[in-house]
Amino acid sequence: MSTAIRRRSSAEVTPSSVAHRTDAACGRGRYGSGVTAPIDPTGTSAWAELARLRDGFTPDLRAWFAADPDRVSALTFDLDDLRVDLSKNLVDAEIVAALVRLAEETGVAERYAAMRAGAHINTTEDRAVLHTALRRPAGAEPALVVDGQDVDADVQSVLEAMSAFAERVRSGEWQGVTGKKVTHVVNIGIGGSDLGPVMISTALQPYADAGIQARFVSNIDPTDLAQKTADLDPETTLFIVASKTFTTLETLTNARLARDWLWAGLATAGAIDDTEDARTDAVAHHFVAVSTALEKVAEFGIDPVNAFGFWDWVGGRYSVGSAIGLSLVIEFGSKVFRDLLAGFHAVDEHVGSTPLAENVPVLMGLLNVWYVNFLGAQSHAVLPYAQQLSRFPAYLQQLTMESNGKSVRWDGSPVTTDTGEVFWGEPGTNGQHAFYQLIHQGTRLIPADFIAFVNPAYPLEDGGRDVHGLFLSNFLAQTKALAFGKTAEEVEAEGTTGALVAARTFAGNRPTTSIFAPALTPRVLGELIALYEHITFTQGTVWGINSFDQWGVELGKQLALQIAPAIEGDEDAIAAQDASTQALLEYYRTHRD
Ligand code: F6P
Repeated sequence: MSTAIRRRSSAEVTPSSVAHRTDAACGRGRYGSGVTAPIDPTGTSAWAELARLRDGFTPDLRAWFAADPDRVSALTFDLDDLRVDLSKNLVDAEIVAALVRLAEETGVAERYAAMRAGAHINTTEDRAVLHTALRRPAGAEPALVVDGQDVDADVQSVLEAMSAFAERVRSGEWQGVTGKKVTHVVNIGIGGSDLGPVMISTALQPYADAGIQARFVSNIDPTDLAQKTADLDPETTLFIVASKTFTTLETLTNARLARDWLWAGLATAGAIDDTEDARTDAVAHHFVAVSTALEKVAEFGIDPVNAFGFWDWVGGRYSVGSAIGLSLVIEFGSKVFRDLLAGFHAVDEHVGSTPLAENVPVLMGLLNVWYVNFLGAQSHAVLPYAQQLSRFPAYLQQLTMESNGKSVRWDGSPVTTDTGEVFWGEPGTNGQHAFYQLIHQGTRLIPADFIAFVNPAYPLEDGGRDVHGLFLSNFLAQTKALAFGKTAEEVEAEGTTGALVAARTFAGNRPTTSIFAPALTPRVLGELIALYEHITFTQGTVWGINSFDQWGVELGKQLALQIAPAIEGDEDAIAAQDASTQALLEYYRTHRD
């Protein structure tokens, strides 16, 4: 393999600083080309310092804010369009400095540079990790060539093909088999081939401008496809089968069900007859695919002309900027998609060029390390004050937990400390009336990110009062309450007495990060996604784990295939199961209608 950064002219030039750091950091290690052994974070001097600072640590945000008028400005950063206020976190300057040293000692910047230059940091699959290349602008210099592939040229060529195809669909030039314009696009995919598109489609609905609605079918529970197609007209529906591997059971099963639905619907409408040619023609007009395995797309019966490729160096959960975003380009147009990519890229650049002490995704990743490894946090809430981001926590669950839910390091040795925390969340204010009680007064430490936007997508008034302003006052109130709490004295001063005082007291010192942006534009959304990608990267690197494989999902997939014949009644397959599984199979057999 060769990892090189070349200018577009054929002449080799001195590598950029990125490539320079890559060479220095990576060499040719035995864990995969371009990768050296992970550094044990617990053996670093920064870790020892953090352990010392943790002993006897008594956070006091009230006192810290009172004593330091510069705290907010020192801990507030602008990351492109995002205002990120870290001041309500449980850190002081000494802790932040030690965390930054931890990032230095574990080589976060070097590994990031190695990743962006194409080193095979996905060691268990011996692959480069280049989702950042998906959002490099056209004509970026120097050109990125990895393993002999002109990555930039390939990325731009697929983007152009997606745009051209989407424009045909949006304009009505692309028609269904009966000559009708597409009104609905149904993306069939799961995991990274679903969560990004569905989250972004939900978030950017105000930008849908072509009279085309996207829907998303993911679950192999047949309810999903049945309900999502129930009110659709096959003549105006376009399916996108999105699967990196094109082997995923759920996606291929749903794709076959969708094909049957299409054929049956068209036949009922008298639009096609029962011949092979008619069916093939229907698929050609109503199915396209997105995959790295284009030969498997052809086997399924989709013309490779209608397939959009990407590459094995794009991880599923990092793939929404690739052709996996095709449904979004159709729904919103290519300008919106390019704006989204530009937002990603702005954050990619920030991470690559900003000193660690001011590097927002790195700092946020380090704060998470502090909470997980030193203060015992087991989960992290993400609370968007934006209904449009209702699927953002679900998206982040795959991004963070499939990435950092690991017990071994990238050299195969056991991790030396706790790794990935549980990410979860719901939009505010709904969460306030559900689980915030536990965050405010429970016994667990739950760091929380609050995300809000100054300007609403739908400015509505209630009796002359701006409802969005009221909404945002909740965002501000919650972070304030969590940080500063309410003392017993304050409760008593309101006239409360007896046992009620304790019940109405808020300890405070519940850490939050506030992320504020002018509006939820495509670019801002790209910035937000990239922010969390690089937070995840930072944590993974500190812990020495490969955040880019997902072997933990394999066993369940294998067993499901083994158990399927048992569900169908195969005696040998039933006999091969454990006692609990056999009993559940028996329950199934006796209750199935
Ligand atoms: O759940 C495992 C996984 O491999 C995810 O990482 C991936 O996003 C998802 O399955 C879907 O995979 P594919 O795009 O290959 O269908």
